[in-house]
Amino acid sequence: MWKNIQPAPPDSILGLTEQFKKDQNPHKVNLGVGVYKDNSGKTPILAAVKKAEQMLLAAETSKSYLPISGDPAYDRAVQKLVLGAESDAFQSARAVTVHAPGGTGALKVGADLLKRFMPEARVWVSSPTWANHNGIFGDAGFAIKNYSYYNPETRGLDFDRMIADLGRVPAGDIVVLHTCCHNPSGVDLDQGQWDEVVRLAEQQGWIPFLDFAYQGFGDGVVEDRYAVERFGTAGIDFLVASSFSKNFGLYNERTGALTVICPGADEAIVALSHVKTVIRTNYSNPPAHGGLAATIILEDSQLYEQWLAELADMRVRIKDMRKRLVQGLADCGVAGDFSFIEKQRGMFSFSGLSDNVVNWLRTEKGIYMVGGGRINLAGLTTDNIDYVCRAIGEAMETAA
Ligand code: LMR
Repeated sequence: MWKNIQPAPPDSILGLTEQFKKDQNPHKVNLGVGVYKDNSGKTPILAAVKKAEQMLLAAETSKSYLPISGDPAYDRAVQKLVLGAESDAFQSARAVTVHAPGGTGALKVGADLLKRFMPEARVWVSSPTWANHNGIFGDAGFAIKNYSYYNPETRGLDFDRMIADLGRVPAGDIVVLHTCCHNPSGVDLDQGQWDEVVRLAEQQGWIPFLDFAYQGFGDGVVEDRYAVERFGTAGIDFLVASSFSKNFGLYNERTGALTVICPGADEAIVALSHVKTVIRTNYSNPPAHGGLAATIILEDSQLYEQWLAELADMRVRIKDMRKRLVQGLADCGVAGDFSFIEKQRGMFSFSGLSDNVVNWLRTEKGIYMVGGGRINLAGLTTDNIDYVCRAIGEAMETAA
């Protein structure tokens, strides 16, 4: 079978990490994949997670299967964090949450679920979006369309065109929205703009699918869920794919969740039954460790506070790197106004660097960025930032 089959291209994000690992350049810097690193360049295990894991290992008595939908305590804890404990969606039991293997797993379960009941729907993603959105929804059998989002001239949100595009999306189509810390641009909607998008969803009858992979990396866990709360009070059907990869640092534990918000508790029971059949045929039931550890943290007030503080440290360090990058580029005399980097939010910045520059930086300097010029700010440290700024200056003169 394989004799006539060509190799698939490497993944545009995870493939870069594979290449980075092989790179012999002693100065190499990975600004590609969205993984947090501290100022020493390490991806730490959070202290709150370490403690919870110790408690978990001491208390654990079995490795038997979890339920198809995951541990009920985890599902409940996720719902409180993602929807808000005071929200009507949580209080009235009209939302169902299942543990999915990471945010990607949650998107895939949601996509397969939607394909069953909305087979003719098209899926609208922002232009640009996380490359894997196209892969996930495309592989689930959906036709993908783009709505305007980022304006390269202003380096900000193209809100008027976004609203115009979403105003033409018909009822029953699916619109994927980045709840906060837009990936790859770092450009977010403000609250008033979210209000308008929610109003459009109500008016048009399309189905919002919120990708919520960076809760806490914008302004804080509560502030960052504004869009989820607003869609919740609008009383429309929507879905949320959330992830604890970044905010708990549980990348390799595949700790995410799919939440389906329904009109009422009866519909929620129906929805859960179908989500479970999707999971059963995909991977049967989720892995346990990361979810059980996260639940311990979310249910213990001291560990919860400790986790919030550690999350705030990550957020603040990334913001500091934004500032230092803008200053560093100016200090190196790099032409152009890079102040927009400080306005962007979350882990990423759309640097505005051309693909020529991005390729030159990789091959000549061992600096890895995602095509399109996405930089993971958390890959910068006080040790490597000068090297990166000087290299960008050189690249813009040589390769721009
Ligand atoms: C990213 O965008 O770099 C992260 O979400 C990691 C991934 O899976 O692509």
